[in-house]
Amino acid sequence: MAQLKGSFTEKILWDFYASAYDDLARYYAPYREVMDEAEKALTSGKKKYSTILDAGCGTGELAIRLLNHGKKLTCMDVSDSMLALFRKKLERMPEKKINCVVYKGDLNDKLGHKDKSFDAVSSIHALFMLDDKFKALNELNRVLKPGGRMVIAHVKPVSIPRLLKLEYAENGFFAAVLVFFRLFKVGFINIIVSGRHKKVYGITPADDIINHMKRKGYSLSAKKVLYRGFDDFMVFDKKAENGSRKR
Ligand SMILES: C[S@@+](CC[C@H](N)C(=O)[O-])C[C@H]1O[C@@H](n2cnc3c(N)ncnc32)[C@H](O)[C@@H]1O
Repeated sequence: MAQLKGSFTEKILWDFYASAYDDLARYYAPYREVMDEAEKALTSGKKKYSTILDAGCGTGELAIRLLNHGKKLTCMDVSDSMLALFRKKLERMPEKKINCVVYKGDLNDKLGHKDKSFDAVSSIHALFMLDDKFKALNELNRVLKPGGRMVIAHVKPVSIPRLLKLEYAENGFFAAVLVFFRLFKVGFINIIVSGRHKKVYGITPADDIINHMKRKGYSLSAKKVLYRGFDDFMVFDKKAENGSRKR
């Protein structure tokens, strides 16, 4: 099991955050849209991505969806509380669908997997926390097979007032009140727990990630702005060993 190298405040942040975060990931439509796109990128199209690493899996919302498609999942996260909620969800699944390894690990470290282990890798709103996102991307690249797919959802610092304003404009007063309570839990915990708020949410422009991946020999197959403008969703395809990019 990897030792936690992320800062203490970051670990506390995620441990406190877990249940409020799970509520957001399950029921907040703009966040679900990110999951919808990730699920689609890994399950539609000609190419089958049978083995998938979900790096920074949180409470397993994406992983559960992928297990329901018959995929084999390896899921890692640094937070015990996030993983505990994920494991509870797995307990409620039919046993035959649970083709999944879940472990505690730190994306700041070298991953304990051999080179070219997975058909696909996903990392949804987890890279933004890391000291060196490019080092982590290099690790994800290392464990991805040639011809494989990497799905990255990269989140920017969220403005809760803006999210509420957009919810009100689109769905009216009662929807905005509901979202207020949903976001309040997450936002409030976030602010009190993370004294180093700005550092935790240190942002790398999506273009820097795209350029980095292109230098590694990936093509950008899709890019969307989701989560009401706060998420850059990117799908990268890695060059196959013979030089082509199978889709
Ligand atoms: C915003 S949540 C996203 C969770 C999940 N991917 C989802 O979209 O539902 C960020 C996740 O990244 C995890 N995380 C943060 N730093 C990490 C690190 N250094 N190594 C592994 N996971 C990390 C947190 O514990 C948390 O579960």
